Amino acid sequence: MGERFYITTPIYYPSDNLHLGHAYTTVAADALARYYRQRGYETWFLTGTDEHGQRIERRAAEAGKTPKEFVDGIVAGIRELWRELHISCDDFIRTSEPRHEKVVQAIFTRLYEQGDIYKSEYVGWYCTPCETFWLESKLKEGRLCPDCGRPVELTREESYKFRLSKYEDQLLRYIEEHPDFIQPESRRNEMTNFIKQGLEDLAVTRTTVKWGIPVPFDPKHTIYVWLDALSNYISALGYGTEDDTLFRKFWPADVHLMGKEIVRFHAIIWPIILLALGLPLPKKVFGHGWLLYGKAGEKMSKSRGNVVDPRELIRRYGVDAVRYYLLREVPFGADGTYTEEQLILRTNVDLANDLGNLLSRTTQMINKFAGGRVPAPVPAVDDGILQAAVAEALAGMTAAMDRLEISDALASLWKAVARANKYIDEQAPWALARDPAQADRLATVLYNLAEAQRILAVALTPFLVETPEKIWDQLGLDPTGVRTQPWEEAVAWGGLPPGTAIRRGAPLFPRNPMPGSRRTGPAPAANR
Ligand code: MSP
Repeated sequence: MGERFYITTPIYYPSDNLHLGHAYTTVAADALARYYRQRGYETWFLTGTDEHGQRIERRAAEAGKTPKEFVDGIVAGIRELWRELHISCDDFIRTSEPRHEKVVQAIFTRLYEQGDIYKSEYVGWYCTPCETFWLESKLKEGRLCPDCGRPVELTREESYKFRLSKYEDQLLRYIEEHPDFIQPESRRNEMTNFIKQGLEDLAVTRTTVKWGIPVPFDPKHTIYVWLDALSNYISALGYGTEDDTLFRKFWPADVHLMGKEIVRFHAIIWPIILLALGLPLPKKVFGHGWLLYGKAGEKMSKSRGNVVDPRELIRRYGVDAVRYYLLREVPFGADGTYTEEQLILRTNVDLANDLGNLLSRTTQMINKFAGGRVPAPVPAVDDGILQAAVAEALAGMTAAMDRLEISDALASLWKAVARANKYIDEQAPWALARDPAQADRLATVLYNLAEAQRILAVALTPFLVETPEKIWDQLGLDPTGVRTQPWEEAVAWGGLPPGTAIRRGAPLFPRNPMPGSRRTGPAPAANR
């Protein structure tokens, strides 16, 4: 096809163990990367860690370690979490790596030489946990950080500044001419209003923080975290280095994905850095909502002490239940409140009852009424109902994915799952089996059910990492094919060879008891 797709997550602060809110961004990016890969795009999926700055410096000192020792341990844990969630990133960039540092230094030098960075003085209020400078006028009462509510510190120091103001009009024009650039729309409006109030030049170095990339021609300054951090999206591609093959292939990014609180940096500072470097801007900056926690609906975050450990949930419910929950529960873009009850309900209803039961009923009937082999359909008696339902579900899914509406994409697939369950009830294969004159209908109905699930398993591969393989395996197919067969061929109706010996296995998902009760959610579809 020759088309390419480059998607990034933010790079994570390795100051603590990551929680479910962090996993949310990465799992969503993973689903999009897997989707484009499956559709035949040459795909590059980047994630990593944002390791410099005062916060890490302090945390390391508290732990009695050097910053590098401190972050190494945490980064290993982050990589392990991504492995447990089956995050399919193509690269993992650490801002402490020499390959990143030298690109940032080159960018800084170039911006300085062309006059976009100049030496000045910085006076302002700094929130260490957020790594953000604030104007006095933006502070909350009591000199508190407007984002996290913690006290800020007054800082005054020599600092290099980046001329954001110079590019204000150019950026506004770009945003107006490219309505898809900042999404969802509410965030675009926020950003244009913010820019229209006027941009102040940004302090991009500090002399009081040692844990950072030194300014090459003035090493008492270290480069301030956002200029350092944002550059990862191109340093990881080898921008400005001898081997910039990846950069030439994948830049500009198709999607920078992030939580809404950091859209400002990605939609204003980052594009201005790129404009100053004469580089094309990313096609889309998408700010998703927050995972909230508890009755008060607070953002899940370490500082609020309300974090949920994704590792624990994976151990309890399995990786696909956790991924499904994150991707399905909240319309992508909006905030949503996490509860374990809702995760269990989604698992019991959507996964165990709807999807799991469909496969279990189908394989049971193929064993009972067709000797364990997928029967050959008879076109003359085919109603075409499931073929149409699957085609509609796929069309809905792909349209939703193109709009980054991941939850809607799953909802669309579940319409076909529901239709197939209803099909069993309507067609009543057990009744057809009692009437020899209905042998062709019975064969066709069973084929349609198995074939619908073969295709749905392919469509589920971006979201779920174990279940599609299990479905293909139970249908008697080579499970590796569910991800490797080219999309168009894999989703074409009729691909399941009649005569395939099925391998009925364990239920796809066990039903979980609700915490504190023995109830397991609604009764399975078969008993309703
Ligand atoms: N290091 C910066 C990003 C620099 S990108 C050049 C950063 N790191 S972070 O670790 O604090 O956040 C990483 C991602 O996790 C962000 O997209 C953030 O929005 C997301 N989330 C952190 N808590 C979250 C929730 N409770 N809910 C959803 N996403 C949240 O910011």
